[in-house]
Amino acid sequence: MADKHGKLTAGLVEEEVKVSNPVKIQDLTFRDAHQSIFATRGRTEDMIPIAEEMDKVGFWALGVWGGATFDTMHRFLGEDPWERPRTLKKYVKKTPLQMLLRGQNLVGYRNYADDVAKIFVERAAENGIDVFRVFDAVNDLRNFSTVVPIIKKMGKHFQGAICYSLTEPRMGGPVYNTEYYVKKAKQLEDMGADTVCIKDMAGLISPYDAYILVKALKEQVKVPIHLHSHFTSGQSCMALLKAIEAGVDIVDTVLSPWAYRTSHPAIEPLAMTLKGTNRDTGFDIVQLAALSEHMEKVTPKYRHLLDDTKLSVIDINVLLHQTPGGMLSNLVNQLREMDALDRIDEVFAELPRVRKELGQVPLVTPTSQIVGIQTVNNVLFDTGDERYKMITAQVKDLCYGLYGETPVPIDPEVRKKALKGYERGEKPIKVRPADVLEPELDKAKALAGDLAKDIDDQLIVALYPTTGVRFLKWKYGLEEIPAEVKPKTLEEVKELERLVALAKAGKLVEKVEKPAPEKGPGVRTFNVFVDGDYFEVEVDEVGGAPVVTSVAPMMPQPAAPVAAPAVAPAAPAPAPAAAPAPAKPIAKPAVEGTPIEAPMPGMVIRYEVNEGDSVNEGDVVLILEAMKMENSITAPISGTVLSIPFKSGDSVQKGNTLAVIG
Ligand code: CO
Repeated sequence: MADKHGKLTAGLVEEEVKVSNPVKIQDLTFRDAHQSIFATRGRTEDMIPIAEEMDKVGFWALGVWGGATFDTMHRFLGEDPWERPRTLKKYVKKTPLQMLLRGQNLVGYRNYADDVAKIFVERAAENGIDVFRVFDAVNDLRNFSTVVPIIKKMGKHFQGAICYSLTEPRMGGPVYNTEYYVKKAKQLEDMGADTVCIKDMAGLISPYDAYILVKALKEQVKVPIHLHSHFTSGQSCMALLKAIEAGVDIVDTVLSPWAYRTSHPAIEPLAMTLKGTNRDTGFDIVQLAALSEHMEKVTPKYRHLLDDTKLSVIDINVLLHQTPGGMLSNLVNQLREMDALDRIDEVFAELPRVRKELGQVPLVTPTSQIVGIQTVNNVLFDTGDERYKMITAQVKDLCYGLYGETPVPIDPEVRKKALKGYERGEKPIKVRPADVLEPELDKAKALAGDLAKDIDDQLIVALYPTTGVRFLKWKYGLEEIPAEVKPKTLEEVKELERLVALAKAGKLVEKVEKPAPEKGPGVRTFNVFVDGDYFEVEVDEVGGAPVVTSVAPMMPQPAAPVAAPAVAPAAPAPAPAAAPAPAKPIAKPAVEGTPIEAPMPGMVIRYEVNEGDSVNEGDVVLILEAMKMENSITAPISGTVLSIPFKSGDSVQKGNTLAVIG
């Protein structure tokens, strides 16, 4: 709309329009964009060519680093995670570099001890991070208390972030209402936050709720307000605009080629929308277009990582169920693996109930997986008279208090059941989770040994013991970097894409790499790796002409790993990018007795008993990990363990006999 002077007013009342108040923009192209749509596989080499130019745009900050980045770089890209902020700093001289810090979880999936947390923040600051966006999955601000003083001591910007969550289609209800967010924001301000961010990781915030919330925050909180809203549900472009009308100070966007889907709104249309208003970003659209053109050029390297199974770029399930898109696809995958996809409606009905019983936690990694997997367990294994028959180890940890204080108390009955026989104790802790952690830096230093040349190397091992040690071997040339980890040129990626496309189309593929005689004469198998995706293609030789008979994408993008118990020593990191080899199904138990069958496909973590041991009904026989959650499998009867056909690390199919009791 234009006012009587013909000046655009961005929906604001007249007196506000007269004051120029440019909205500040943080760009997330180098972090959240590829994290959201390309499994965090963005490489530093593709950022360098535009880094200097990005510095000239006038962004408030560039988001470049965080947990998923740290994990993926050392695990899948063979890049030193510390090198990215150091390198970008050489090109980006004016614009602050920002990182996302998971509170006491740092850039990992569990709470780390204070000694590791302190030195990590110091090193992040010294390696070039200027703005620390800190959040906690259950919004327990006690999990901020170690890192914040170090951020301040290092003279850096502390942005306190609140995970945005809903229990109803719109903001409100007994938990996630305006008062909840305003109260958290004020607490963050009291902690010394330089800015406060509403972190809408699932793209849930409706435009009018964004307006209401930002208005309330602007009235009651002094520090600038920042909105981070993923596009997932399709609302975020509108939400940013309404937030801007309500006076939000800073918003997050990305360059257009890596925008939308589960990523963020693009900067170009927003800059154009605000042109000539009092909230004009002042950005040069031509300059932005040139930057986007570069991203468009490098995108073919990453396109195969995009989930393009649907034509729609939005996920309306988020609108229907108020649950993050990634969480729903995990649930569907899990049900499919258990041959129970037809029970999805029961899962949707059970989900809000489980979430409420588990303290109405925000649904963000790792709590979204914890709630999701427990919901599926309840639907599949509960009987009419008994709920929570199979409780995952992570739910037990949550009930014990290892993730922090949940927004509402956990249901006492559920808590009691979860903590019955729990190894750390049956009484939940009341203290800050990291208060029960022993210092762990020295242990990590010992584990890293001579492999680590400095504290940054040691921290990689402290945070990711298994993959961290492997990375250091790659870094110092003690082990060959696997082909699928090495960077590929555009030409190499195009060639791989061509092979996969031909194979998918059932057409001839010339490159036969690995003969597999066990498949029988005339059948050859070869493998096509494209980053995390692994295709096994079988080629049938008919009259000498190979024909592709099957294409199996063996390695879907890994689901985000879930927090290990907070007090576990060096948590085993999730498996590296290799197709897991399922153990051979065992058709019949070799001995007579009562078999314990795998209720779901998964991996044997460990047996708690040996052959010949006697067990009572209900005793834990083994721990089975499924969808990154640990499940205790118990003895159905009392007796003697007659047979244990698998060992730790074996993958099992649903229905495999895991033990025989007689
Ligand atoms: Co995000």
